[in-house]
Amino acid sequence: MNIMRYLIINLKQYIEPIERKDELKNAIQSLEEYSKKLNVEIIIVPQFLEANFYAWHNCKTFVQHVDFEEPGKGTGYMLPETLPVNKVEGTLLNHSEHRLKFDVIEKTVERLKKLNLRVCLCAKNSLEVKKFNKLNIDFIAVEPPKLIGGDISVSSAKPQLISNSVKNSNNIPLLVGAGIKNKDDVKKAIELGAKGILIASGIAKSENYYETIKDLLEGFE
Ligand code: G3P
Repeated sequence: MNIMRYLIINLKQYIEPIERKDELKNAIQSLEEYSKKLNVEIIIVPQFLEANFYAWHNCKTFVQHVDFEEPGKGTGYMLPETLPVNKVEGTLLNHSEHRLKFDVIEKTVERLKKLNLRVCLCAKNSLEVKKFNKLNIDFIAVEPPKLIGGDISVSSAKPQLISNSVKNSNNIPLLVGAGIKNKDDVKKAIELGAKGILIASGIAKSENYYETIKDLLEGFE
């Protein structure tokens, strides 16, 4: 069986995909067959309230963060139990723009595992990848903070970071992100041993979601 690869689309707080969610959902659905042929799982990570829309249209959906709070008294936290009942399969955790202390990461991962939810834990460098590989998680995504949201891709600027992180991931699928825009960026990351990418602005701000996602998928060919 071919090894699974991943294209995780973090919509962050971008307004465009909220205004054009039908276009984005249709693009993902239309490319489903092609992505399956490539053994690439596409996961969409929208704003919390938008997650329901994608999940109920059968797109694999994660949220951008959850808390480890237990059901009951408590207000304003993101309760993990709300995910499975809304067909949401997992979450990003510790994104560069939403960093957590290590003990909070541990407690949250434990809660998520009990509920059979998947976790993509974000790391800012290869040392953190090493620290995180002991947690029983589904993916680690390494993203150099300074390149996030820019036009220089992690693949071209930090090849060493990718190969070191792959080594340090201890067989947990290693994803890379920051500045990824096209199939060449994806191809380089995969050649360096990554199992996929975590992307935001390259898709969120694209003028044609279908063409952009198709181009990125071609990088897995
Ligand atoms: O979560 C993905 C991310 O931080 C990378 O952002 O805009 O550089 O693709 P971007």
